[in-house]
Amino acid sequence: YDLWLDYSSIKTPAIRSEAESFFSGIYFFGKNPTYNAIQFEMEKAIPIMIGKSPIYATDRINSAKMWLGTREELAQVIGLDQQMEIKNLGDEGYWMGPIEFQGKTYFSIIGNKPIGVLYGVFRLLQEIQREQIDFKEELSDSPKVKIRMLNHWDNLDRTVERGYAGFSIWDWHKLPGYVDPRYIDYARANASIGINAVSLTNVNANAWILRPDFIEKVKVLADIFRPYGIKVYLTARFSAPIELGGLETADPLNSEVAAFWKEKVGMIYKAIPDFGGFVVKANSEGQPGPHEYGRNHAEGANMLADALAPYKGLVIWRAFVYSHEIDEDRHKQANLEFEPLDGKFKENVIIQVKNGAIDFQPREPFHPLFGAVKSTNLGMEFQITQEYLGQATQLVYLGTFWEEVLKSNTYRPKSSSTVAKIIDGTDTGQKLTLMAGVSNIGTDRNWTGHLFGQSNWYAFGRLAWDPYLSSEKIAEEWSELTFGPKLSGIEKIQGIMINSHEAAVNYMTPLGLHHIMGRSHHYGPGPWVEGGRADWTSLYYHRAGSDGIGFDRTSSGSNALNQYAPEIAEVWSDPKKIPEKYLLWFHHLPWDFELKSGNSLWKEITLHYDQGVKSSRSFLQTWQSLENVIDEERFDHVNQLLKIQIKEAEWWRNACLLYFQTFADRPFPSEIEQPE
Ligand code: GCU
Repeated sequence: YDLWLDYSSIKTPAIRSEAESFFSGIYFFGKNPTYNAIQFEMEKAIPIMIGKSPIYATDRINSAKMWLGTREELAQVIGLDQQMEIKNLGDEGYWMGPIEFQGKTYFSIIGNKPIGVLYGVFRLLQEIQREQIDFKEELSDSPKVKIRMLNHWDNLDRTVERGYAGFSIWDWHKLPGYVDPRYIDYARANASIGINAVSLTNVNANAWILRPDFIEKVKVLADIFRPYGIKVYLTARFSAPIELGGLETADPLNSEVAAFWKEKVGMIYKAIPDFGGFVVKANSEGQPGPHEYGRNHAEGANMLADALAPYKGLVIWRAFVYSHEIDEDRHKQANLEFEPLDGKFKENVIIQVKNGAIDFQPREPFHPLFGAVKSTNLGMEFQITQEYLGQATQLVYLGTFWEEVLKSNTYRPKSSSTVAKIIDGTDTGQKLTLMAGVSNIGTDRNWTGHLFGQSNWYAFGRLAWDPYLSSEKIAEEWSELTFGPKLSGIEKIQGIMINSHEAAVNYMTPLGLHHIMGRSHHYGPGPWVEGGRADWTSLYYHRAGSDGIGFDRTSSGSNALNQYAPEIAEVWSDPKKIPEKYLLWFHHLPWDFELKSGNSLWKEITLHYDQGVKSSRSFLQTWQSLENVIDEERFDHVNQLLKIQIKEAEWWRNACLLYFQTFADRPFPSEIEQPE
């Protein structure tokens, strides 16, 4: 339950005694709800870490040993150079280190705003917890992305779309009267990794959330989250003017519709003055939107943006749209709809783009919208909940995958551009920046169902803060905070994490295969899925036949490759040059096509599936070697789940290979375990 905030006793004597000394004279330079949150955290952490309660100093000089406050609050005791240095860290950044003043050293944490101080304190507690702090060193950091957001796909009846960890933690029934302590722990966890925004409701939205009685409930959550620097957003159902307002239309250019939204927005801001804005899924998978009225996404988004602008609210408009009327290849549809609208969206609109063009597949090449538009704010949407990656039974650390996407070279707008440099504004100059993650949180005691699901929540927050961090470093941080830095064999846990995504891709969708899972629930294999709408079947994506396998997206096929920069299109259109992890995503190739290894495509597919199963077995073996060092409860929890994971890996391998063999009509190589 305590996540990575599960504080424990510090073992290194030097760190312990120094911490003890500083924590015996904590002085706050001001008073505000965020400093109360800091105090609350210290009271939880410090007694466990050093066995003594924190002591608060009553004056800033004599009894103080540790200074906490903003740059302005500390202006009289810090030099001008240092003030400038801190100023450059922005609203949410922090600086910490020793300050010499009148012959005495004060360990200080300074931000430009109280929230920076809170982020600094969390960082300090984590550094102490990881037993690697050097109190003599200076340390500063600031977020690279402005809005670091969790998207909950939570329904008002507390079911969670694609949720695998119980029900929604938002207890609408008991709100506003009853405040579940979980809300505070949720805010602490998010703030500790820098998450500063949360959209509470499902993108497949229910208009009721915009009713005054629900806003009263939302207000309670917003009030709890505020000291932790977290703003609340809601999903807005585009047809709400009809459903709630009694209008006959939701046409964005209709004045009554615009007036409806203005009135709603005014009502919300009255209750929640720092409300973040709306997240909107429109004209996608049956959701209402501007297309019903012959209007485009920009006209829809801008109408909402106008209503929110007086309050500095934002519209986060999703690019996850696809309709087969536009193009046969779903891969192309978002670009076809959004590229022509470049430059047409208002300043307070951000287009939230999934990491890939299809849908959170186990592995996807980056979305071709990144780099394709010049004058549109683009934000990233990752999926933390493992809809397509084993749900809550599998250990799949997503940090490595997200790092792969963020590091992808887009060649646009600059030849050196990467996805990270686009979404943090480095290469685009975009000021409004966003990274959103679809939450994996629910009422389960450990929040995420699988213990290692926590690592994905953690990794998301860290990468949203700094999209250039290495996933290995994040795995190190999380595992040390979760299991203790001194756990012998901790590097084995990190090893499992780092290799887990590749393993899952191997036993699910190797070499660029995609969307071959069970229909609609997306659990387990279903390469045979046929019937109904073409782009909801597996055959549409793998196109296996006696002639070979894969989706031709080159110029001889759908030409989706043309939506990428020419540098990419050129290399990837050659099946001998494209990174093999994307091969069948873009090419339809004969079973005997020769890969870099010298093996035929058929053989290589079988080897990948086989390797995936072997890796999952090795994870269990490694985990079991830690039996006596990890507490029994967590050991057993993961042990049981890893056994399920092996079964599921075998299920994937057997189902896919036996199915594909009916087309390939070739034997399995003798070196692999024969599927049955
Ligand atoms: C996926 C997912 C849906 C979700 C959709 C979205 O298709 O299966 O449940 O609503 O993505 O992101 O809007």
